[in-house]
Amino acid sequence: MLRKIAITAMSVLSLMAGAAQAEGTFEPQTKDVAFSFEGPFGKFDEHQLQRGLQVYTEVCAACHGLKFVAYRTLGDEGGPKLPEDQVAAYAAQYTAVDADTGEERPAKPSDYFAENTSAGAPDLSLMAKARAGYHGPWGTGLSQLFNGMGGPEHIVSILTGYTGQTKEEAGSSFHENTAFSTGWIKMPPPLTDGQVTFADGSPNDVRHMAEDVAAFLMWTAEPHMMARKMWAFVIVGMMGLFAVLLYLTNKRLWAPYKGRKQA
Ligand code: HEC
Repeated sequence: MLRKIAITAMSVLSLMAGAAQAEGTFEPQTKDVAFSFEGPFGKFDEHQLQRGLQVYTEVCAACHGLKFVAYRTLGDEGGPKLPEDQVAAYAAQYTAVDADTGEERPAKPSDYFAENTSAGAPDLSLMAKARAGYHGPWGTGLSQLFNGMGGPEHIVSILTGYTGQTKEEAGSSFHENTAFSTGWIKMPPPLTDGQVTFADGSPNDVRHMAEDVAAFLMWTAEPHMMARKMWAFVIVGMMGLFAVLLYLTNKRLWAPYKGRKQA
């Protein structure tokens, strides 16, 4: 109920803010996506994370690094949860520089994903937490309170926000994108319908691939989200228990004096 009122108030406010901005500068748009990991009971969907890993590997890795993520974490509980042999096989497709010998060798699960700066593309390890998708109205952050930061939504919105317009400026090509901060991004549209084929036959239109890779990047940015939520429950539960015990103790301690006439 409270949430409903707040959401209604919020949309009225953002309508007003929208009207105010109409004459002003470009405002990036973030689409809302109902991810499985939202809310206090939300969980990463390991199948979606596996598909997202595949999209990253086949498409994004050409330009973007993931240097803060170790291959071995692909097998973690609460993550993509690949079986051990698949983690080893995934790592073995790449090479790493051995810390002891200084020589290149096939990568092991304990190595990290490659760094990639060749295309001038930012590392994606923490991107889902580095960008806030939701703002306003008027920079109050009210929307974030109810919808979260909107980092993975920002990624989906970028990947699906191309209008098809391009322009050349200072020797570079820019692509019009309704979600990018300036409205014109250097990244060419990376996804096309049907580009990646999923083993589980999941839909592979641009929107679905964008959601899968955004979920995967939320996991790389916050791999222990599920453990964090679990601890929040344990702690809130313990505090509730303490509150009850305190109440009962208080009652019991004062029971002999209750209803007694003061001398
Ligand atoms: C051809 C190279 C290339 C490919 C492939 C590519 N990107 Fe990019 N990406 C870039 C470049 C370059 C930028 C920096 C754009 C800029 O600053 O204008 C960028 C920026 C981004 C950003 C940051 C947007 C922001 O708000 O700053 C995200 C998120 C992103 N890419 C996600 C992806 C994902 C996910 C994929 C795979 C589906 C992908 N990219 C594939 C080149 C690429």
